[in-house]
Amino acid sequence: MRFTLNIDHIATIRNARGETQPDPVTAALVAEQAGVDGIVVHLREDRRHINERDVRLLRELITTKLDLEMAATDEIIKIACDVGPELATIVPEKRQELTTEGGVNVIDNINLFKNSIKTLHDAEIEVSLFIEPDIDQIDAASEINSDYIEIHTGVFANALSEEEQFDELERIRIAAKHAKKLGLGVNAGHGLNYQNIKVFREVPDIDEVSIGHAIIARAVFVGIKDAVKEMMGLIKG
Ligand code: PXP
Repeated sequence: MRFTLNIDHIATIRNARGETQPDPVTAALVAEQAGVDGIVVHLREDRRHINERDVRLLRELITTKLDLEMAATDEIIKIACDVGPELATIVPEKRQELTTEGGVNVIDNINLFKNSIKTLHDAEIEVSLFIEPDIDQIDAASEINSDYIEIHTGVFANALSEEEQFDELERIRIAAKHAKKLGLGVNAGHGLNYQNIKVFREVPDIDEVSIGHAIIARAVFVGIKDAVKEMMGLIKG
């Protein structure tokens, strides 16, 4: 299973002072040296953390892969086509939310996503849709030529009992298997941490996990390099 690091929260700390430190681009380079398989950033409409300068510099400097999380809006699609990340992950976006809440509803917005995927494909960018572990949503993602899905693991991460967590992991397992059968790549993320990640080693159909908050929080105490290495040990064994 591959492991990509979301560095949005480094930019959140930088922006708290409106200055230049800590620099998310430097953090990405350190994380690459520690062994991550890719760097993830979410360029939000309100630019609350990552900005265009970060995305363009990352594009120039990183040597793994760039996964640009984005809403399917004209402005951000245009930037994505110009920058050329290896992967564009389409997520829902609300101004008031603290973090991405839930997956996108592909079925209800089929034409919007179909057109967005086509535009991104024309720019030779692969596309992933961030969705709940729901078979109908996966079928819709496949119908409109998405290359990947990213399964939202928030319900699993926030489960209040072991039983609830087990049930949600089963849903994720079934969803991942179904997506794989349709030929989709399968990523997963949201709320994954040093405690709950281990069970994902037993979900063979997940190709990649995308983790942000837990690692940046740990990095405050041990540094990015060790925080990444500890997570890699849990993911890759
Ligand atoms: N994947 C997607 C699509 C996300 O929106 C986020 C949150 O930015 C993550 C993964 C990472 O979530 P977390 O920060 O909880 O690890």
